[in-house]
Amino acid sequence: MSLLSTHGLDAFYGDFQALYGVNVALEEGQCVALIGPNGAGKTTLLRALMGWVPVAEGMVLFDGHQIGGASPDRTVAMGIASVPEGRRLFPSLTVDENLIMGRESGRRGAWTLDGIYDLFPSLRGRRGHLGSGLSGGQQQMVAIGRALMANPRVLLVDELSLGLAPTVVNDIARALPRIRETGVSIMLVEQDVRRALSLSDYAYCILEGRINLQGPSGELEFGDIEKSFFGEAA
Ligand SMILES: Nc1ncnc2c1ncn2[C@@H]1O[C@H](COP(=O)(O)OP(=O)(O)OP(=O)(O)O)[C@@H](O)[C@H]1O
Ligand SMILES: [Mg+2]
Repeated sequence: MSLLSTHGLDAFYGDFQALYGVNVALEEGQCVALIGPNGAGKTTLLRALMGWVPVAEGMVLFDGHQIGGASPDRTVAMGIASVPEGRRLFPSLTVDENLIMGRESGRRGAWTLDGIYDLFPSLRGRRGHLGSGLSGGQQQMVAIGRALMANPRVLLVDELSLGLAPTVVNDIARALPRIRETGVSIMLVEQDVRRALSLSDYAYCILEGRINLQGPSGELEFGDIEKSFFGEAA
């Protein structure tokens, strides 16, 4: 049984349907990538898993329990935490305070401020700085750290590298395997297809709210993924 899975997941914004019968699965210990062009529905899928977008009962299963329709607080308490698109730090709180906010409604577990600073050493010297004064890369580190402070079993990351300098992206990407070693499973939205494939075990390509290509990351052809962006996937 998968740790987290969707079953014919439909999602709507008012009358607009953003996801159509999506089936994805994340196994314990795995990293799964979601790939697709702008507007495909990647963020909507993560938001549906978190409970930010309403979904019908039975469409999301977590650890054998149906959680479709659960509130975001409830999902975090059950062990799913997210790094949202745009990072959404509290600009007037310090790095320490932003990280501590992550504990709210989370689970008890091993992550501490020290653990986060070991994962992202460049943050340690900035722990008293305000969120608003951080670079994009530092903000992303704090957003990941904040999610980990909830001691999740599943980490959802929306746009790992978007808008960040290449060197800092490497620092952040290097943290993912270390996070996985602690037993956290990861679902990742990443625009850079090669990076998405290199970080993940399995990948799903989404176009216009539907999965149109999927497979083990090591077996997917870059050219096929490009075609899937234009709806030409086999
Ligand atoms: N709050 C909203 N209200 C109405 N429609 C929305 C809303 N958020 C997203 N949509 C629409 O839902 C569809 C999927 O959007 P979504 O943000 O999930 O795509 P995405 O794959 O994350 O794109 P991007 O790569 O640009 O982040 C798009 O057509 C988008 O315009
Ligand atoms: Mg998005």
